[in-house]
Amino acid sequence: MAKFTRVFGIPKLPVHLTRGLRFRLTLSYVLFFTVLLVVIGLFFRKTLQSQMEGSVRDALEEEWGEAKGYLKIENQRPIWIADETDPEEAYIVSRIKHVFLITDANGVALDYDDTYESIGLDPAPEITKVIHGDPQITVRSDKTGTPYMIKAGRVPDDRGRPYFFAIGRSLGPAHKTVSDLTRTYFFMLPVMIALTGLLGWALAGRAIRPVNLVSQTARDITGSNLSMQIPLRNAGDELDQLIDSFNRMTARLSQSFEQTRRFSTDVSHELRTPLTAIRGQLEVALFTAETPEQYREAMINALEDVEKLSSIVRALLLLSQAESGQLALQKTPLELGDVAADLVDQFQIPAEEKNVKLTADLVHDLVIPADRTQIERLLSNLLSNAVKYTPSGGSVKVRVSIADQPGWVQLVIEDTGMGIPAENLPHIFDRFYRVRNASAAAQPGLGLGLSFVAWIVEVHGGRIEVTSTVGAGTRFTILLPRGAEPAEEVHVEGAAESTLK
Ligand SMILES: Nc1ncnc2c1ncn2[C@@H]1O[C@H](COP(=O)(O)OP(=O)(O)O)[C@@H](O)[C@H]1O
Ligand SMILES: [Mg+2]
Repeated sequence: MAKFTRVFGIPKLPVHLTRGLRFRLTLSYVLFFTVLLVVIGLFFRKTLQSQMEGSVRDALEEEWGEAKGYLKIENQRPIWIADETDPEEAYIVSRIKHVFLITDANGVALDYDDTYESIGLDPAPEITKVIHGDPQITVRSDKTGTPYMIKAGRVPDDRGRPYFFAIGRSLGPAHKTVSDLTRTYFFMLPVMIALTGLLGWALAGRAIRPVNLVSQTARDITGSNLSMQIPLRNAGDELDQLIDSFNRMTARLSQSFEQTRRFSTDVSHELRTPLTAIRGQLEVALFTAETPEQYREAMINALEDVEKLSSIVRALLLLSQAESGQLALQKTPLELGDVAADLVDQFQIPAEEKNVKLTADLVHDLVIPADRTQIERLLSNLLSNAVKYTPSGGSVKVRVSIADQPGWVQLVIEDTGMGIPAENLPHIFDRFYRVRNASAAAQPGLGLGLSFVAWIVEVHGGRIEVTSTVGAGTRFTILLPRGAEPAEEVHVEGAAESTLK
């Protein structure tokens, strides 16, 4: 069993907290700052450590230099010669003797202190290597894990025989400073990251507030309040551009909605008149007609109105075909003056009926590549407008001539009618657009004629220009190219776009 529930309104799209733009922006901030802070922390730790080790090394080198002045080896016995009465010298010697080792060339320890013992006395092969090579600096740890920097080298005794001598300095305080600092820094890190997160959340909120505003407004817009505009922030940024594009879009939509609305009204109105007439005629015939002639007359009248209905439907169909590009053009060499003469002849009767003088001034032998049916439609639409919107006693003139620009033919249709107000002029080529003042609206019409005209001019590569003065008259000037285009079928996409000057 099939089931269908019609849902009204578009449900609001839920914004996921974790997938929202704001969250992702904040996350990027936080990730970026975390990486940055960690890298900075590690870099400073490294720099600080090598700086502190550097100063320990300097002190060690200094002591090494001093030690050579205070150490004598005589008869295989190391002797420290320091003036006991000089506190400075005594201090220096005691400092040197803080961590030290003296051995003979065979690696037999002659003197050392407890700390050096805890670090570990150097094995004999190592000692031989040092005695025969350059002094070397190593880092070794004692039993408690405290690291020491040790410099080892060779010292000669009174007879010039080489002995092994090493002194050391603790790296403990340096390493402790570095690790204390590192610990504090990385302990503070989560706090700093949390703060960046908060700041990022606030900044991201500020940054996307206009976006939320746009989406809120867009949500509130319906068919009936399409004219709604989002105020610009005047920041001149991408968001202002977005808002501007959005506003333009709603303006365009609003215009086309308005056109569609008018169209429905107009179509219903146009269709209702002949329908009412047909119904009346048929009813009258049904209830009052007795003779076959009376029935016949009613049928003829009804048929006329049916004809009117079909012409409206035909126009609508044609327009939708033109719009969707289904209308094929058949371009052949066309003598514009002859076509214009035919159409002027056809319009003489309606013009006379309205007491409008219709004249023509046509240059013949101007051949253009064009679709005869469409050019006839163009002339017929413009002529019917001219006659329709010109009151009794006025005149309509049609001119075909060579245009001032070489390679173009000019067609002018000029009347002394009611004219078109300047504010309506830019819209008259729009589909279903009709001037809404009392005198214009009194005339029947669907507002489709000029959209066809504009479409036909466009697909022939021409241009159209209209000038009008209210109460004095209107002039349509059309320029068509004489270009020797090959006669071909042209499919045109899209609807007519009007050229106005
Ligand atoms: N020659 C003219 N003089 C005055 N107004 C005109 C003239 N031609 C067109 N218009 C105005 O332009 C509108 C659009 O014309 P058109 O597309 O032919 O529609 P329709 O003739 O069905 O009203 C008309 O409703 C009319 O107000
Ligand atoms: Mg018309």
